[in-house]
Amino acid sequence: MARKRKEGRKKEEMKMVRIYIMGKEYKVPAGLTIMKAMEYAGYRYIRGAGCRAGFCGACATVYRKEGDYKLYADLACQTTVEDGMWLVQLPFTPANKATYDLEEIKLDDKTLVNFYPEIARCVSCNTCTKACPQELEVMDYIQACLRGDIKKAAELSFDCIQCGLCALRCPAEIAHYHVSQLARRLYGKYIAPKAKHLEKRVEEIKEGKFDKEMKEIMEKSIEELKEMYNSRYIEPEEEEIVVEAD
Ligand code: SF4
Ligand code: SF4
Ligand code: FES
Repeated sequence: MARKRKEGRKKEEMKMVRIYIMGKEYKVPAGLTIMKAMEYAGYRYIRGAGCRAGFCGACATVYRKEGDYKLYADLACQTTVEDGMWLVQLPFTPANKATYDLEEIKLDDKTLVNFYPEIARCVSCNTCTKACPQELEVMDYIQACLRGDIKKAAELSFDCIQCGLCALRCPAEIAHYHVSQLARRLYGKYIAPKAKHLEKRVEEIKEGKFDKEMKEIMEKSIEELKEMYNSRYIEPEEEEIVVEAD
């Protein structure tokens, strides 16, 4: 009983904010991410959540704030709830993806435009850049694709997590992340200098250096694989380097 009272008091002390999920009001603790707040409100993520750490791009969310005309786009696992937030989750952004065989592609400055002709419809409004939770220069990488500058497009889009928020807002209906994924693949295959250590490892794999280990892994049960994964070596975090002033 005493414990219940204590928990009740804790709840009272907790600062709560109002959020609206698909139009319905909920009170949730301030400081939660949108994802956690939705779970607190009773929603269960079956799709639309993956890493919960800002890497997989699965948790795209759009929202408005009270009294603010702007439509915001963000990641639900990385964004903190605010009082008066109107939210909706986007489990998936439909987008056509070109099919190709990288080995067969003929590389020239029209390659990307041939696979994705809609990039020529870009009106340079920069809406995609504003929507990107990774703060990428999305419009610039689309323009680089248009110019056939595959290296630039690959570099500018390197941190894309395929969340689809840019595609959702684009008036030219471009699927930016598919276009840039092709640019990165082409860059990796045909343009970037080859990493010596990677070539060496590929050779070793082809020569069968790891066949025995692979066979052993393939024969393990799910439980043994889990155990192996959980007890794997993890590099320790680098110690903080303190620079002392003179
Ligand atoms: S939102 Fe679409 S049209 Fe606007 S700059 Fe980005 S790619 Fe171009
Ligand atoms: S470029 Fe588009 S798909 Fe990639 S992270 Fe930014 S908004 Fe998401
Ligand atoms: S769940 Fe992976 S980025 Fe949010």
